[in-house]
Amino acid sequence: MKEQESLDRLQELRAVIHEHNYRYHVLDAPVISDYEYDQLLLELRKIEAEHPEWVTPDSPTQRAGAEIAERFVKVQHPAPILSLANAFSGADLVAWRDRIARLDERVLTCDYVLEPKLDGLTVVLHYADGLFVRGATRGNGEVGEDITTNLKTVTSVPLRIPTRKDGPRPPKRLVVRGEVFINREDFLALNARLSEGGERTYQNARNTAAGSLRQLDASITASRPLRILNYAIVDFQGQDAPASQRETLEYLARLGFAVPAEAAVYKTIEEVVAACEAWVDRRKTLPFEIDGMVVKINPLQLAASLGFVGKDPRGAIAFKFPAQEVTTKLNDIVVNVGRTGVLTPNAVLEPVEIGGVIVRQATLHNFDYIAEKDIRVGDRVLIKRAGEVIPYVIGPVADARTGSEVAYVPPSVCPECGEPVSHVEGEVAWYCVNPACPEQRVRNIEHFVSRATLDIVGLGIKIVEQLVRAKMVEDAADLYALDRARLLGLEGFAEKKVDNLLASIEASKFRPLARLIFALGIRGVGEVVSADLAGAFGNLDALASANQEDLERIEGIGPNIAEAILDWFSHPANKKVLRKLKAAGMWPVQTQDAVSGRQPFAGKNFVVTGTLSSFSREGVKEYIQALGGKVVGSVSKNISYVVAGENPGSKLDKARALGIPVIDEDGLRQLAETL
Ligand code: IVH
Repeated sequence: MKEQESLDRLQELRAVIHEHNYRYHVLDAPVISDYEYDQLLLELRKIEAEHPEWVTPDSPTQRAGAEIAERFVKVQHPAPILSLANAFSGADLVAWRDRIARLDERVLTCDYVLEPKLDGLTVVLHYADGLFVRGATRGNGEVGEDITTNLKTVTSVPLRIPTRKDGPRPPKRLVVRGEVFINREDFLALNARLSEGGERTYQNARNTAAGSLRQLDASITASRPLRILNYAIVDFQGQDAPASQRETLEYLARLGFAVPAEAAVYKTIEEVVAACEAWVDRRKTLPFEIDGMVVKINPLQLAASLGFVGKDPRGAIAFKFPAQEVTTKLNDIVVNVGRTGVLTPNAVLEPVEIGGVIVRQATLHNFDYIAEKDIRVGDRVLIKRAGEVIPYVIGPVADARTGSEVAYVPPSVCPECGEPVSHVEGEVAWYCVNPACPEQRVRNIEHFVSRATLDIVGLGIKIVEQLVRAKMVEDAADLYALDRARLLGLEGFAEKKVDNLLASIEASKFRPLARLIFALGIRGVGEVVSADLAGAFGNLDALASANQEDLERIEGIGPNIAEAILDWFSHPANKKVLRKLKAAGMWPVQTQDAVSGRQPFAGKNFVVTGTLSSFSREGVKEYIQALGGKVVGSVSKNISYVVAGENPGSKLDKARALGIPVIDEDGLRQLAETL
């Protein structure tokens, strides 16, 4: 490519990648697949590798931040980064309004903005002529720490504004305040990943977010699922500065910043109080933790003119939700066995109410945690329930001890199967390593059929336990040899239920290889590693015969995971599982290699509408694709078949109007056999 062509392409790539980043991370509405996105980034990296002089700090390639800081440099904030006074009730809010109305009676007629109070870490983002030049922590409110490199790895922090071509021109200088946090689900997934790998888990999302931002090695920050929401302008040099809090949020959004979507304007303090009280319960509908709501006087000039009390501006106040921490008695410590054999201690509590929910059990994380915190059976313990997260024990109330408390000794044998437990030096987790442990069997099969893996519809934990107890399955492969007559003999199994179950087990054979690899439950092999392995090896035979070197050649697979994979495939019980899966025809191959398989749906387009009983949404798509067909979103002349389940939508009417054949899920299976 000629020099100018390369440069043009580089600029084009940066613009489209910025746009896709914005759509993905801020709008939550991506229009291209992750694969396509990676290809764009790859192409950009290639051009930049050929022309290092063209690399600019706002290039999307600069997010990964590989350089390691030795310590953080101090940053003087352009204006004080203030805190907030607290209100604990509706009456407190009304009293606040009355107080400030005495200082300025315009308060009696102004409106308010109500925003969620994110439980994260404040950061301050500096932009010069639209370019992200510096990011800092709050520090003491006057001086913070420079965490620019780390913040660049947070994908919802714009590196250049506006992020979209049609956005407003950037001001000469803009300093924005936001909150960095981790979504509840991402936090649970992060902990699950760590615990599967035998690593120490985090206690709560807030501390994890804070710790991640203050990493000297930005690649660690990059590996954490951090997000940001922005809510204030700290400094502005340019034209048409927003005049109200509401305009601030709208303006920031137009520049490409993520802002709290739940922010709302209210005319009176009474409306604000009602909304705050409703949020006490409504908070659980949010994907992130909040510890209250922030009430802000909407006109910025009025808010500023009210001044401060210490570090708290008078023009805003935090409405704090009722505390989610209580103390209760620790009656016992029980140990659960997980899928990979990890033993997890759980607290059995004297039932206690936290935020309207009765809590009877709480997690104690791991055995080291119990020892470090010196938690004893019989102790009064402090329990925290943070939103939907599993309640956990913060620690003992040592002052309440009577002397009858008993120090805890971790089990030396598995509580489920009685075999000795084992511990890898340097890891926190203790494992039951007996592959025949019944509890591990249930957990393994549960994982095998779960939504994230083979997604076998209608096979929940209760049925898995029932099948294991009835000795009809010992391992997941036995699912493919279930006998119809024996199933009918089980309690609660009528003809229809049995047929649906067998049909959805059968349908799982059309799942992509990556899902099967993930389903095997190899330690450290999650969704991403599974996809990498499927791509690299193409089928299970090739993966099973790979050696350490073959495995470590794959990016993202280090010696530990490679060893876990080798270990899994060398185990006789697992070899048996593989033999049975293969014999049952449960042996998917990676799609590019699947050309040898029968492709009866090649060249055919399908639309699916309504709920199917033996396929999930994703499942029916993968089934059709595995047989060569394409699944399309809307009905048109080019559609070959419409697959309709229960409660179909308007797509069914449209199909009928166009005379397109409509079939049900049995019809789909028949079609696969007859075409
Ligand atoms: S406004 C003058 N808005 O809560 C501006 N703060 O307890 C004062 N916080 O230090 C802050 N969400 O870290 C504001 N929507 C929001 C917020 C928010 C979370 C944090 C912020 C502040 C703390 C005060």
